[in-house]
Amino acid sequence: MSTVRVFSGIQPSGELHIGNWFGAIQNWVQVQDEYDCIYCVVDYHAITDQFGPEAKRYRTAQGESMAERSLRMAGDLIACGIDPQKSILFVQSHVPEHTELAWIFSCIASYGDLQRMTQFKDKSDRSAYVSVGLFSYPVLQAADILLYRASRVPVGEDQVQHLELARRIGRRFNSLVGVEYFPEVEPLLTEGKRIMSPADPAQKMSKSLGPKHYIGLMEDPKESWKKIRSAVTDVGLEAGQSMSPGVANLIDLLRLSAPAEVVEEFVARHATGELLYGDLKKAVAESLETALASIRERRAQLGDAEVREILKEGAKKASAIARETMAEVRDLVGVGGAAS
Ligand code: TYM
Repeated sequence: MSTVRVFSGIQPSGELHIGNWFGAIQNWVQVQDEYDCIYCVVDYHAITDQFGPEAKRYRTAQGESMAERSLRMAGDLIACGIDPQKSILFVQSHVPEHTELAWIFSCIASYGDLQRMTQFKDKSDRSAYVSVGLFSYPVLQAADILLYRASRVPVGEDQVQHLELARRIGRRFNSLVGVEYFPEVEPLLTEGKRIMSPADPAQKMSKSLGPKHYIGLMEDPKESWKKIRSAVTDVGLEAGQSMSPGVANLIDLLRLSAPAEVVEEFVARHATGELLYGDLKKAVAESLETALASIRERRAQLGDAEVREILKEGAKKASAIARETMAEVRDLVGVGGAAS
């Protein structure tokens, strides 16, 4: 196994969607054979915006607690191909060193840098109440990665700014303690790094916009078809565009799930003005269904007890690394031991 370490995380905020899959998880699965990989269900991140009366002690409309959602997300990731024989899979709150390192990092992260995070700006604009946790979220993210001294992080494009911040925090730590302790953090991006919403192709696919804005990975194909059939295609072209954003998004989905000849045929028909959007939508729905069928089958066979066991083992392995890092970090910072 390579000594290059990969770390990535996902929030247990409801279901996985095809943006998560094409943007990140598919890559998590692929790099397992090449690198030493650690994957985390980041429940502490999820409570930054789901902590409140409407969440009823973190319960969703389906009555799921955060712990239940974490378990479900972990099961989904295993069904996607995260292999506990190859990678460590665990839940963030099972390894408390994440929040300890986050505190140390919050003492060196720049307030100005955090204020410039576009995700914070977007989310705080939409919220009536802005918590410190929402603001310092990227500091916890930097701690997640650097606790394992990981240098490669497979993510979608929306996370790149957070990773730049993690790199800055790591560099600042190294320069303050005078040791090259943390590695440089680099994103690993895919061709599907930014999948757009079918209902509003100007926005990225996301659960927070509502069900018509995402296609669930474990969703009934009939549901997915409804969303694809009503995908927006006919918004006008802007200067410099040869394809409307909605059509470009459908072509991207086809490129990610269908053979190259099929994509070429649709691109050629578009170029000659012969493309029927209904045909394109049908092709996208069919190719997605085929590409995702084996994941759904694996998911149906996976029981909660098995997933719990995998997470328990994962937390044990992650904790061993995390404890070692924190002992070294405390020593470098000069805290933790009583002066003799
Ligand atoms: P989260 O839970 O929002 O998303 C998980 C992963 O899916 C990617 N993604 C997308 N990719 C392409 N198109 C889309 N429409 C799309 N929507 C989501 C995300 O980029 C992400 O890679 N802050 C992170 C979780 C996190 C993390 C970490 C990631 C916490 N700590 C440490 C990496 C390393 C987040 O909220 O992802």
